[in-house]
Amino acid sequence: MDVINAIKSRRSVRSFKKKKVSLNTVKKILELASLSPSGSNTQPWNVHVLIGDSLNKFTEEMVKEFKKNNQSLKLERLNYMKKYRSPYQERRRKVGWDLYELLNIKKGDYKKTLNFHTLNYSFFNAPLGLIFSIEKDLGWMSWLDYGMFLQNICLLCRSFGLHSCPQAAWGLVYKKANKFLNLENNFTVHCGMAIGYENKNNNINTLKTEREKLDNFCKILN
Ligand SMILES: Cc1cc2nc3c(=O)[nH]c(=O)nc-3n(C[C@H](O)[C@H](O)[C@H](O)COP(=O)(O)O)c2cc1C
Repeated sequence: MDVINAIKSRRSVRSFKKKKVSLNTVKKILELASLSPSGSNTQPWNVHVLIGDSLNKFTEEMVKEFKKNNQSLKLERLNYMKKYRSPYQERRRKVGWDLYELLNIKKGDYKKTLNFHTLNYSFFNAPLGLIFSIEKDLGWMSWLDYGMFLQNICLLCRSFGLHSCPQAAWGLVYKKANKFLNLENNFTVHCGMAIGYENKNNNINTLKTEREKLDNFCKILN
């Protein structure tokens, strides 16, 4: 698959077939993704691959944590900005409502909304999950580098017939995840990614997100 088709066919997929993902494929994807550029070649990424029993144990614990503490867990890591304003608020609402419409979740149905959010913590039942951590004192530039690595993984997944969903949701249960994975003190979990083969029979995967036109985000000075 060429890059253009990989970019065009990548979407966030939130329901997967049971079909397993081979460990060799994941290793290849991560090795290739690590060819990403990073400032001064610092390579700030650190990945845990969760599969089989370890995936089940991890997700069981994290679902429990989210269900028990979702009211008190701090949103500090999930706040893209302190108070959303235009145009971010509209974009965010649009994707949320489109998703809820597909799932038949009505405004104010907190139970169904919570159930949907909980799916994040089982990697949307994907056969494989990645958890990403970083050393806490790495700065802004390292987060940029990390984003490149994550996007490479998403695109490489397409190359192997796989789909993915990057998940900031893991930032909500990072304390529990850090403990479960026995991370050294200077590391912290910051996000995750569900990976697997798309379940085409689930409505949720028909979500199509929109993008701004080039003229709205690009000024050409010549
Ligand atoms: C860093 C990052 C974190 C994300 N976190 C979540 C998440 O926690 N749960 C989720 O369902 N989708 C998550 N997404 C998926 C976005 O909602 C999705 O990328 C966006 O709506 C655009 O849709 P598309 O990926 O299908 O093109 C995340 C995406 C990115 C890049």
